[in-house]
Amino acid sequence: MSSILVLDDRRADRELLAILLRRAGYDVSLAPTGETALAAARSDPPDLVITDILMPVMNGYEFVRRLRAHPETGSVPVVFYTANYLEREVKRLAAACGVSHFIAKPSDVDTILATIGEVIGAPRSVLRPLPGGEFDREQLRLLNDKLVEKVAELEALGAERRKLVGQLINAHEQERKRIAEDLHDDSVQAVVALRMRLETLAARVGDPGLARELAGLEEHAAAAVDRLRGLLFEIQPVELDTSGVAVALRTSLERASAEDGLDFELVDRTSRPHGQAVRSLLYRVGREALANVRNHAGASRVEVRLEDDGEGFALEVRDDGRGFDPEQGLRVRPGHLGLPAMRERVEITGGRLELESRPGSGTALRVWLPDVEAP
Ligand SMILES: Nc1ncnc2c1ncn2[C@@H]1O[C@H](COP(=O)(O)OP(=O)(O)OP(=O)(O)O)[C@@H](O)[C@H]1O
Ligand SMILES: [Mg+2]
Repeated sequence: MSSILVLDDRRADRELLAILLRRAGYDVSLAPTGETALAAARSDPPDLVITDILMPVMNGYEFVRRLRAHPETGSVPVVFYTANYLEREVKRLAAACGVSHFIAKPSDVDTILATIGEVIGAPRSVLRPLPGGEFDREQLRLLNDKLVEKVAELEALGAERRKLVGQLINAHEQERKRIAEDLHDDSVQAVVALRMRLETLAARVGDPGLARELAGLEEHAAAAVDRLRGLLFEIQPVELDTSGVAVALRTSLERASAEDGLDFELVDRTSRPHGQAVRSLLYRVGREALANVRNHAGASRVEVRLEDDGEGFALEVRDDGRGFDPEQGLRVRPGHLGLPAMRERVEITGGRLELESRPGSGTALRVWLPDVEAP
């Protein structure tokens, strides 16, 4: 059984790797720091070391340099396990200390095992010890410590911010839901009851003139119920929670198509579910963009596209209407807050909003939102 030593300052990362490797039949030992890994490797040289690069005190390069400097461990193959393997600097330094293989963080099991198989199966080459200047090392150590500290700070801040934005949007949605429920249970029911009483009354009166009058009132009441239901849908479409963004947007598009004769296409390529905050924000942006198409574009066709995009989701609303100058559209002007407010909401969540439009050539509005509720 081949033995692998895993060095990573992050417990979760090293333990995850250990589980995968043990399951694949390797004999795995773990080390949280370069010092402990060196001591372990010297007392019992492993067949392979997998190490992170960015670690406090002793980083991955320094660790490999010291591993190479010792005759017992000088030719132990090393694989770097890192999120930064694409950077040219990283590759150059890795090559300088005889590390030719990388595993990207994160990677799937097959890639990890294939890389390990390649390295363990290859004949060992004799490696020259690395030249090392005390000054350079010190410099690198300092920078490295700083960087590790900053990365941890940024990650914590980013996670906190995403959580807060998610909570904020959810609170907003809960409020909308409450208003919608009150409207439904109270106002709508009251007008429905009024309508029924008018209907009964109209059937009972003998005077045809009065009966007509009552029937007219009943029609008004029926129209009020319809309008209230429309308002309910605006505030909180039930489908959004039950069936998702695409279905709720389709209802809006169908309505636009029925009312304005707008031809539409809706393409939904999302493969993972949207969390509640993303769902409501995507929907609101889609609705606002569609309202603009209906109010300003004079378009005959609109295309709406939803898809996964990296660590988030993208929405595009494209029309073939008259187009406009996006700079003007995004400027805050009294009475025209749709686009600037939309952009602000999107940017608060760490997303992006882009407008592509020219007078005479249609408009494309694209939004990307990070998956703020990703675990
Ligand atoms: N799809 C579009 N096609 C043509 N013009 C557009 C389109 N979308 C926006 N515009 C132009 O950009 C302007 C700003 O849009 P914005 O949504 O910010 O405000 P509004 O629609 O005028 O008002 P509000 O959305 O606040 O009710 C619009 O008044 C319109 O001139
Ligand atoms: Mg608008």
